[in-house]
Amino acid sequence: MKSRTLLATLLCCVAPLFTQAADSSPSELDDTMEQMNTAYRKLTRQISNPAKNADSLATIATLRERSLEAVKFDPKRKADVPAAEQEKFVAAYQEGMKHFVEQVTKVEAALKADKNAEAAELLKALKQAQEDGHKQFKRAKKKA
Ligand code: HEM
Repeated sequence: MKSRTLLATLLCCVAPLFTQAADSSPSELDDTMEQMNTAYRKLTRQISNPAKNADSLATIATLRERSLEAVKFDPKRKADVPAAEQEKFVAAYQEGMKHFVEQVTKVEAALKADKNAEAAELLKALKQAQEDGHKQFKRAKKKA
């Protein structure tokens, strides 16, 4: 009897932890975005350096591929939107991501033409797109 009570108590304490973990666990989109982040950060460090252009072009190809992949996932925030508005929400997200891919392609074109200063300027626009995209489509972080 005693051990049953202990088990029940343990379950009551542990179960909510799992529920919370499922809610805040990284989505496939989070994983894809993390890979975009790695590529983006590398580019910010070396885009102005012509000696690194071959590596920067390979990195920007990764950024473009991951961004295209990101279009296919639905953001978690979709579940917070009323059912009647979910389709519109996802369509707007997909538009945002596609526009981002276009911006990435512009950076790539500048780099291919060895225009490093122009590529660096265009890369800055990606940061703005990230901020706008996160504001519109990412779930706000829960306060601890
Ligand atoms: C340079 C460009 C970008 C970078 C480096 C980036 C990076 C990240 C990272 C690291 C995360 C996961 C961690 C976190 O919560 O912060 C994330 C999540 C997310 N990002 Fe981005 N992001 C970029 C652009 C965008 C754009 C353009 C959009 C939308 C049009 C977007 C939409 C989202 C969404 C919706 C999530 C949450 C994932 C989910 O709901 O499952 N991101 N991003």
